Parts: sequence; structure tokens; C-alpha cells
Amino acid sequence: MAGEERDLKVKIRGVTKIFDGRKGQVVALNGVDLDIYTNEFICVVGPSGCGKSTLLNIIAGLLDKTDGEVQVDGREVEGTGIDRGVVFQQYALFPWLTVKKNVLFGLKIQKKTPAEAEEIAMKYIRMVGLEKFADAYPKELSGGMKQRVAIARAYAVNPSLLLMDEPFGALDAQTRTQLQTELIKTWEEEKKTCFFITHDVEEAVLLATRVIVMSARPGRIKEIIPVNIPHPRDQETKMSPAFTELKNYIWNMVYREYLEVAE
Ligand SMILES: Nc1ncnc2c1ncn2[C@@H]1O[C@H](COP(=O)(O)OP(=O)(O)O)[C@@H](O)[C@H]1O
Ligand SMILES: [Mg+2]
Repeated sequence: MAGEERDLKVKIRGVTKIFDGRKGQVVALNGVDLDIYTNEFICVVGPSGCGKSTLLNIIAGLLDKTDGEVQVDGREVEGTGIDRGVVFQQYALFPWLTVKKNVLFGLKIQKKTPAEAEEIAMKYIRMVGLEKFADAYPKELSGGMKQRVAIARAYAVNPSLLLMDEPFGALDAQTRTQLQTELIKTWEEEKKTCFFITHDVEEAVLLATRVIVMSARPGRIKEIIPVNIPHPRDQETKMSPAFTELKNYIWNMVYREYLEVAE
């Protein structure tokens, strides 16, 4: 986007992560450089074990890096913070709290009046289509509904950056497409900066403003592909020739990386 002023949200330089595993050291990330700009929706794809989750957890502050530099909003990441909301594949809801109270939970540490907090919580519960279930408990919900609550909770805190690690990975195909559509709509409204990991290339192209392909171990960024498919997008977008072409291009690249690991 030449000439356009863009705010740098995440700056990653030379990030390396070495794990001490049982069979010796594992280089999970090797010199990763990446800039993420405000309002971007970044999708990360790559073969299993290439370091996607490791990178996300380092940005989240859940994991220490071995070397390198990670800044969010110009501040060095040191541990977790409410400026970064995280959604994992396994929705970690409090089983003893209702949907609304789960969403309100994250708002507690913020200085909001109960009425303000309630209003925010209900806004995001509506956004994910669960207003009728605001007083239900997690055990009364399907997997897809629980994941909706986890997403509502992450959004409600209004983090500067949303980090999502295969959030739809455990869901059936129909629920997955529904949640994709909701996530696109939400991004189109709020333009919240997202870093989203998926193993589904089609999902990546549908959601992303840029797709990052990671290479097989040791994890590096292989290529960054801009997705110049206009918004608003919906499931129909998947039918367009531009979409199919991009999807095939990225799929082939990921497949070649997968073969590297399989060999
Ligand atoms: N806590 C850990 N201890 C040792 N090795 C780990 C640990 N976490 C991840 N790894 C290794 O680091 C590599 C990258 O893992 P991960 O980031 O989970 O990959 P991905 O999310 O792309 O599937 C893998 O080889 C994995 O086995
Ligand atoms: Mg992972």
C-alpha cells in the first residue's frame, strides 16, 4: 500500500525459539522477522510442527523467546497482558459461570461500571448470536457455541490485538463456516488487528488481508501473500476465480512444505 500511512502494531525481529526436548534441542523458530500493521487480519498457515503456536504464544507473552525482539504497540512483550486477547482451539470457559458472566469476567479488571460492563458483554454476545443463551451454562452449549463465547469474551475486553490459535479447528464444517462469516463481519465493522492460525488454507484466504506461509522446521516465514480480494466478503467469495487461484497457489506452497516434513 504505497504512500499510505500505516501504524505498526507488532514488530518481530530475529525471533528464535529453541526447546529442550527429551530427544535434544528443537529449533521451533529460527530468525523470524514480521511486521503486522494496525487493522490487518493476518492468517498463518504451515505444516504441523512448523512453529505457528510457538510464535503466537511468544506474542501473547505465554512463552519466552530464546532470542530476538517482539514489540506490541511499541512496547517489548514481557508476559501476558490485557492488550492481547487470546482464543485457543479448546475454549477455556468457566463451567460454573453463565455465558454472560464468562464474558463479563474479562471486563472485571477494567474500570467499568456494572451497567457499562453489562452493555459491552451483551453487545458481543449478540455479535456471536448467543443473546438467547446469555444465562445458560457452558454444559448446555454445543462446541461451536462455546467457541462463540470464547470469541465474545476476547472481543469484549477490547484488546489491541487478537491472537487466535486454530479457534475453529475442533468444530464441524457447518459451524466453522458460520463462525467464519461472523468473524469476517466483525472484522469489517471493527477492523480489530488479528493474528489467526489455521491449517485450512481456504479459511485463511477468506479471512486474511495477508497470509503468512511458514516453512517446515526450523520455523521461518516462507512467504507473505497479500489477499487483494475486496470486502465485504462472505461464503460466496470462495466461488470467485481470484479466490480459487490464490487458494491453490498457497495450498501448493503449504503442501510442498508438508512434504519436506513427511520425508
Ligand atoms: N514445550 C515444548 N517442548 C519441546 N518441544 C516443543 C514444545 N512446544 C513445541 N515444541 C516443538 O516445537 C515445534 C513447533 O511446535 P508448534 O509451535 O506447536 O507447531 P505448530 O503450532 O505449527 O503445529 C514442534 O517440533 C514441537 O514439537
Ligand atoms: Mg499449533
